[in-house]
Amino acid sequence: MGLQHIPVMVEEAMGFLKCGSGCTYVDATLGGGGHASEILRRAAPDGVVIGVEWDGDALAEAENTLLVFGERVKIFRKNFIHLPDFMKAESVDGILLDLGLSSFQVEEKRRGFSFKGEGPLDMRMDQRMHQTAADLVNRLSLGELEYTLFHYGEESWAKKIAKAIVYEREKGPIETTQALRKIIYQAIPRRFHSRRIDPATKTFQALRIRVNDELENLRKILGTGWVLLKKGGRMCVISFHSIEDRMVKEAFRKLEKDGTMRILTKKPVTPSEEERDKNPRSRSAKLRCAERVSANTEEF
Ligand SMILES: C[S@@+](CC[C@H](N)C(=O)[O-])C[C@H]1O[C@@H](n2cnc3c(N)ncnc32)[C@H](O)[C@@H]1O
Repeated sequence: MGLQHIPVMVEEAMGFLKCGSGCTYVDATLGGGGHASEILRRAAPDGVVIGVEWDGDALAEAENTLLVFGERVKIFRKNFIHLPDFMKAESVDGILLDLGLSSFQVEEKRRGFSFKGEGPLDMRMDQRMHQTAADLVNRLSLGELEYTLFHYGEESWAKKIAKAIVYEREKGPIETTQALRKIIYQAIPRRFHSRRIDPATKTFQALRIRVNDELENLRKILGTGWVLLKKGGRMCVISFHSIEDRMVKEAFRKLEKDGTMRILTKKPVTPSEEERDKNPRSRSAKLRCAERVSANTEEF
């Protein structure tokens, strides 16, 4: 696999998770295993990581990276929303969610996540899923396209871009990242093209979120994941855009109000300047953490 993924805010996340020997952690977004290896290293000699990842490529990478930890790692190819179905309540000391994509997913042109290279409009994180970004672009109604771009991408040109997509697909299906990028470039008047972010950024983000049902998955795990935590166990979430960060903030607040969790980050923790310089991907990262306070498992 090409580019290596650099895990974000490792020290901060490890600090909150209080990694120690004899503890069990869930890495719900295992990726290439960067955070997981840090947890395992710090939880030596007998700490355990249950790793969950739904992308076959990432999983292969993680298996390779984590081989040295032997029996201390258990890996499952699953959507993290299913964690409460196959794990016991109050069985873990910490849960880590590091949302978004691994660098090697973004860089791999055939996965279609990036508008930078030419590739099929795919964007499925789990290759076993059926619906691709091309399916959405070529099949959604005008209204649904506009809704998707506006709500998942916070794209203020959603209407114009949606109209341009519908117009262009009349001529033939839109199948590649560059074909879509060109349509977006033409739909947004040139004087409004930002120098800071590529005009295609928000549309690509919106489609990726919708293809992978990312917000619904996050909503579900925030609503049920805490059940797996022992009393004093912690959930850390690293998010990369404002929609997700808002969801985490609100879910933690609700759990705190219920008396289930205590928020440990009144404000989100962000990467140090040094990290932002070294790893530009970390720039938009926000970490929030909450600790389970009540021990009795309620129905959910
Ligand atoms: C930012 S990467 C994690 C990188 C990892 N922390 C590391 O250090 O290598 C996020 C990963 O979460 C995975 N992912 C996203 N949503 C998921 C879900 N609902 N279930 C399982 N894995 C998911 C993605 O496929 C991706 O590999």
